[in-house]
Amino acid sequence: MLGRTQPTAPPRVATVVILDFGAQYSQLIARRVREAKVYSEILPHDAPWSTIAGREPAAIILTGGPESTLAPGALGVDPEVFGSGIPLLGICYGMQLIARDLGGELVAARHREFGPATIQLEAPSGLFAGVAPTTRAWMSHGDTVLAPPRGFATLARTTNGVIAAFGNDERRIYGVQFHPEVAHTAAGTRVIENFLHSVAGIEPSWKMESFVDRATDEIRMQVGDGKVICALSGGVDSAVAATLVAHAIGSQLTCLFVDTGLLRAHEGDTVVAAFRDVLHLNVIRIDARERFVQQLTGIVDPEEKRIRIGHEFITIFEEQARRLGDAQFLAQGTLYPDVIESKTPNSKAAHKIKSHHNVGGLPETMRLSLVEPLRLLFKDEVREVGRVLGLPAAIVERQPFPGPGLAVRILGAVTLQRLETVRAADKIVTDEIEAATLDARPWQYFAVLTPLQSVGVMGDGRTYADLVAVRAIASEDGMTADWARLPHDLLERISTRIVNEVAGVNRVAYDITSKPPATVEWE
Ligand code: XMP
Repeated sequence: MLGRTQPTAPPRVATVVILDFGAQYSQLIARRVREAKVYSEILPHDAPWSTIAGREPAAIILTGGPESTLAPGALGVDPEVFGSGIPLLGICYGMQLIARDLGGELVAARHREFGPATIQLEAPSGLFAGVAPTTRAWMSHGDTVLAPPRGFATLARTTNGVIAAFGNDERRIYGVQFHPEVAHTAAGTRVIENFLHSVAGIEPSWKMESFVDRATDEIRMQVGDGKVICALSGGVDSAVAATLVAHAIGSQLTCLFVDTGLLRAHEGDTVVAAFRDVLHLNVIRIDARERFVQQLTGIVDPEEKRIRIGHEFITIFEEQARRLGDAQFLAQGTLYPDVIESKTPNSKAAHKIKSHHNVGGLPETMRLSLVEPLRLLFKDEVREVGRVLGLPAAIVERQPFPGPGLAVRILGAVTLQRLETVRAADKIVTDEIEAATLDARPWQYFAVLTPLQSVGVMGDGRTYADLVAVRAIASEDGMTADWARLPHDLLERISTRIVNEVAGVNRVAYDITSKPPATVEWE
């Protein structure tokens, strides 16, 4: 581990504050900003000006949101946001809010308009520099701006005449009705880069090394001389979190590897060996297999499973913290998407999808303070941090695995036998996909044990046995995903092997649903 230096305040980096109105796309905006090499953070829309100003934002972005700005009690922002002189970009709801609060004209829509549209530029503006005069953009809105506020020019309209963008170059305030953050908006990246680099004048200088330095300082400031425990799950997030914390505070960190019995084949041994023998971290292995199965006995509701698993983890950590004497901190590899999808205070307005156990399952009475150095990062950024820290590719490139493990890949009751079934099927899926020659390996691939039985014929006899589903997805960050177009002969090998080698399974189905509307995991 590197030597310790005195904690100092983290170096300032130009920050873009994204004020979140609960859009499912808020995190994508943050991503796009970071891809433009500018650091960004999401705050709740109603963050007081003191909190926003504390970030010394070089620009502010207002996100979209599910509600109407015209509804009584509609969500708003601290008025200082408009008066601060800081460059401002409002997207969808954000644009309408600018129109509403600065004196533009809006009309409530009877139904939402959703999907691709063609927009035409109407007036020159730095925001659209280099963008074709006619371009495709993704729209998703209810209300419509009829007239921009005084002093603002209409910059673009859809072919139906709807105002698609307005702006005031002098005040550096802009609104776009379309979503520049989604891939379907052809010039989206260009618009975001124009706003950041040309309009707001922010240098594209943010990189992972800056993140690592900053996170290292922050961990030292938070922890001081305290002791930290960190849960290793085997996934890349906890591995990177542990390595980053160890990088910051060395032997003050003890890693705990809880064998929940909900892990993939041979996972426990592999993880412990990697961290003890390769990374030389302090690792304690805890056999909690019986405890978790007991907690899950008879539980079929996915949320209940997640919450129970989260609680059991925390109980174990607290026991271990007491056993270790005086650990006050728990380090976790919580990622930005986990934070956002669990509807934490940073996304008050968003609708909850599922409780990712790192976040949603924490009991209010937990005595350990959390150290979550990755909570503002996306998966691919975490991998990049891992590379910067020198983690071996075998760890950095591992496919994601959910904290609640195989429990959320068994629909219905979790039993030892059903765990064996899904584990064996999962190993076949993994082995076959990893052995295949593919243009691109799927982002994630696994087996799901369904609660369905169906009739089959094996040898000369009738069977009535389980259905296993195979899921393989292409994704950038788990937020959206497409099902992987695996070659048919590979799917055939997987199916044949599962039915032949896994007792109690007589049928295999391939999941051809994207996210949305499905999620990656089945629970
Ligand atoms: P979903 O199912 O929400 O999954 O579309 C998105 C990504 O997150 C992973 N996932 C989790 N990761 N704790 C985690 O650390 C969790 O509780 C959890 N649930 C899902 C999932 O495997 C996918 O990569």
